[in-house]
Amino acid sequence: MCGIIGYIGKKQAAPILIESLRKLEYRGYDSSGIGVISSADGKIVFRKNKGKINALCNLLKFSPLPKTTCGVSHTRWATHGAPNRINSHPHVDESGQFLVVHNGIIENYEVLKDSLIKKGHKFLSQTDTEVVPHLIQEYYKGDFLEAVKKAISKLKGAFALGIISSNHPDVLIAVRVGSPLIVGLGKDENFIASDVPAILEHTRRIIYLKDEQIAVLTKERVDVFNFDGTKVKPQVHNVEFKVDCVEKQGFAHFMLKEVHEQPQVIQHMINTRIVRNQLKLDGIGLSDKQLKRINNVVIVACGTAYHAGMVGRYAIELLANVPVAVELSSEFRYRKPIISNKSLVIAISQSGETADTLAAVREAKKRGAKILSICNVLGSSLSRESEGVLYTHAGPEIGVASTKAYTAQICMLYLLSLKLSLVHGTIRSGEFKYLVKKLKEIPALYHQILKDKSNIASIAKRSSHFGCFLFLGRNINYPSALEGALKLKEISYIPAEGYAAGEMKHGPIALIDEYRAVVCVATESDIYDKMISNIQEIRSRRGKVIAIATAGDEQIKNHAANVIYVPKTEQLFTPLTVAIPMQLIAYYIAVKRGCDVDQPRNLAKSVTVE
Ligand code: M6R
Repeated sequence: MCGIIGYIGKKQAAPILIESLRKLEYRGYDSSGIGVISSADGKIVFRKNKGKINALCNLLKFSPLPKTTCGVSHTRWATHGAPNRINSHPHVDESGQFLVVHNGIIENYEVLKDSLIKKGHKFLSQTDTEVVPHLIQEYYKGDFLEAVKKAISKLKGAFALGIISSNHPDVLIAVRVGSPLIVGLGKDENFIASDVPAILEHTRRIIYLKDEQIAVLTKERVDVFNFDGTKVKPQVHNVEFKVDCVEKQGFAHFMLKEVHEQPQVIQHMINTRIVRNQLKLDGIGLSDKQLKRINNVVIVACGTAYHAGMVGRYAIELLANVPVAVELSSEFRYRKPIISNKSLVIAISQSGETADTLAAVREAKKRGAKILSICNVLGSSLSRESEGVLYTHAGPEIGVASTKAYTAQICMLYLLSLKLSLVHGTIRSGEFKYLVKKLKEIPALYHQILKDKSNIASIAKRSSHFGCFLFLGRNINYPSALEGALKLKEISYIPAEGYAAGEMKHGPIALIDEYRAVVCVATESDIYDKMISNIQEIRSRRGKVIAIATAGDEQIKNHAANVIYVPKTEQLFTPLTVAIPMQLIAYYIAVKRGCDVDQPRNLAKSVTVE
């Protein structure tokens, strides 16, 4: 969602603040802004604009900023108030002494705003954020940090803040409650950012601020305090990402690049997690004895991660014979879930910052469950709140549409199912070895699928005019259908529904006519014939079928004019192979329709508010 950058140092701050902000564009935003302290007179100056960062840059051409070595910049994803210039960040108090950028939601802003208005403060925007600079000004008696501390003690909700003051031109203050914020340490310069990739070019020495911490940055030093005022010695991490992880490397879009990274992501997971045919799930945080005590699993996740969780359910129940419930985090948090100290809650999240998943985890912990997270981003809030973390190490995922994170999550869930089946004694050694062997083949199969992507591209392009898509799958590929539909709708804006094929006659068949396309997962399986029957039902109603089938299946051509083949693998692992055509169908259709593939409208990469 919103992105924050802050700089204090010796260099000209504005170009750094703008360029680093561009690296946060992937998070999703609708307006942007920058606020600095003028080196000439110490005054606060800011510019903001609706739309992309280029719109801000155009404004800066006509209305340039003064020379400056300290400032903050921001991309806004509207929550309170329309995406327009007034509501864009930064926000300042009316005296122009305090300037704030904010990510998150201040839940009690209306009460605070009313009381500030009664005291004579004047507000310009409809945002929740604007109360913050006014509150700081209200409490300011000469000590910047004290005023910030008093102001944030009044705030409820989740927020990351970057704050500068004309009274203290050599200080930048950062605050974290719930929303991610990091500090980057440089030589004679320091940074704040919502995410590591934004400042990788400048430093790899990172402090992940914890909840309820304040960082006070000058160009020479960074001091971190807990909200109670105690000074803490933060851990400094040396981040190992390569800068090219956050570049397109010749691909037209990040999404396409990330689709192509899947062979290496899965290969890396296999190499590091299966050593001499032994599972190496370092970080799992639970002993075999604890895993053996578990009598049910609850998976919580949102969006694509939820679909990965559904695949995980099939795998865990099949291999380990442990009952699994898969829950949308946003629903789970408001139910009274039945969880005991024998339950294992698995939270799946690429970002590890999804507000609903974090809330679900907190709810489950209150009920005594152990939390194991499957997460991509190192040091994320989720990883810190879990007993165990299985990092997928898929590398930064920049495209808003999740691709490599999804298949990495599924692969990790297969490994976890194998682990549980060993601990629960539900798998024979021969079967274990066979499944490991089949899993090891996946990267090579991925290369084959990607080599033949031109067929997928041409089918997708020929189908891009359809106004509605249905995705059908059964059993372990029911989640694949849901994921295919999600990918298509989020990047092409075409209405798309994912269904369990067996449900078709219970409603969705009413949609079928010559104007609908239906993507059917018809890979080799125990229920292949049933899928063929579904396809026939669609064809007899003149629906256009795109079938995803197993290489060598000639029979399917009698039923579908458009066939995408994936190489044969074990039935259990087909969601991994089917995922790539699903991603590419969505990708090529979106490109053909001229959509912004990497930054689809209204979407944010990590949903840090409820
Ligand atoms: O970071 P997370 O995995 O927790 O994010 C969950 C969803 O917001 C995410 O998967 C979303 O659905 C993607 N845009 C799907 O492509």
